[in-house]
Amino acid sequence: MGLDVELHLPPDIQVGGGVSERVGELAAGSGLTRVLVVTDPVMVDSGVAGRVAERLEAAGIATATFSDITGEPTTDFVDAGVAALRAHEADGIVAVGGGSPLDTAKAVSVMASNGGALPDYLGYHKIPEPGVPLIAVPTTAGTGSEVTRVTVITDTSRDVKMMILSNHLMPRVALADFRLTLTCPPGLTANVGVDSLTHAIESYVSAKANPVTDGFALRAAELIGRYLRRAQSDGGDEEAREALMLGAMLAGAAFSNASVALVHGMSRPIGAHFHVPHGLSNAVLLPTITRWSIGGAPERYATIARAMGLADEAALVDELDALNADLGVPRLGELDGVQRDHFDRVKADMAEAALASGSPGFNPRVPDAEEIIALYDEAW
Ligand SMILES: NC(=O)c1ccc[n+]([C@@H]2O[C@H](COP(=O)([O-])OP(=O)(O)OC[C@H]3O[C@@H](n4cnc5c(N)ncnc54)[C@H](O)[C@@H]3O)[C@@H](O)[C@H]2O)c1
Ligand SMILES: [Fe+2]
Repeated sequence: MGLDVELHLPPDIQVGGGVSERVGELAAGSGLTRVLVVTDPVMVDSGVAGRVAERLEAAGIATATFSDITGEPTTDFVDAGVAALRAHEADGIVAVGGGSPLDTAKAVSVMASNGGALPDYLGYHKIPEPGVPLIAVPTTAGTGSEVTRVTVITDTSRDVKMMILSNHLMPRVALADFRLTLTCPPGLTANVGVDSLTHAIESYVSAKANPVTDGFALRAAELIGRYLRRAQSDGGDEEAREALMLGAMLAGAAFSNASVALVHGMSRPIGAHFHVPHGLSNAVLLPTITRWSIGGAPERYATIARAMGLADEAALVDELDALNADLGVPRLGELDGVQRDHFDRVKADMAEAALASGSPGFNPRVPDAEEIIALYDEAW
């Protein structure tokens, strides 16, 4: 009992300095002949997306680039991406960027072959057919999206961040190359780093954790706990960047199989209503929700605390507060664009949306709507 495992990962995962340079041979080896590179304007301007396209071309693959991704993904970006895929008659996608291009690309991949509307597929295992093959090249460390069967897309008609999980969303190849993260500015490094730490902690305490995801989560927490401050204070610290890329991948592999929990459940509605970046909306909630949840699984929290070099579960909450302070993460009420009257007007809806996503159900302590509202107020 307690040793059952169900595990879903990309068939080909490569982590390390320079692995993104193999994109041409891996795309050709996957049988791709026409590829749509899905990326964003920052990656185009920096030349990273262009270098990936050149490597694909050198392997005999015809490429076109779609880069109209100007924030976290929406149904509008996905529709435009599907049109670009069809116009190029692409048989595969290479996604280059942070979680936003990666998640957009996953949705484009399945919408191209399934049709219908993305909200039809909201929730778990609703997508009938596989998508076109996807190679994921993350440039942040990170969402772990390169190894997850999850995409999160905002439905612009309803201001809801739709959580969609399906085995058909799994990339064919993940190329996690820390050298691509050396240009991440300090604020981005902090946001995505706390996102990955949240994945590690939440998957470890999740009701769906299994012995393999436990191993991934503990190793991820150790790496991220040790190196996040270093990478934020010196972006060129290659040892720290390398550790964080591996940590983010492991944390993604953990949560894609074991689920996230209450922090992510409550964080998505903040992003949908106030357009706060995903990692930041997690970070402002993580200490408060960890403090509230510990009673549901004190030994699990103590074990992950020890993986981070801490004494026990109480020290974990102190460390999460200290980490936010050191990284410059503000309080929920201090975030740009989050006004108290607007927040009070929507917090009951946000609590309902959090519960509807299913994630809070995997938390070690499961709240009702009233308790979620109280937690939002406590994090304010
Ligand atoms: N699918 C999953 O499993 C999963 C998990 C967690 C988060 N997410 C999603 O990921 C998205 C957030 O992704 P993110 O936090 O990686 O940020 P992002 O992709 O939104 O990027 C944020 C900004 O950083 C820039 N950037 C990216 N890489 C850079 C680099 N190397 N150097 C300089 N600038 C760079 C981007 O151009 C952009 O301007 C959210 O939509 C979230 O919901 C998905
Ligand atoms: Fe996340």
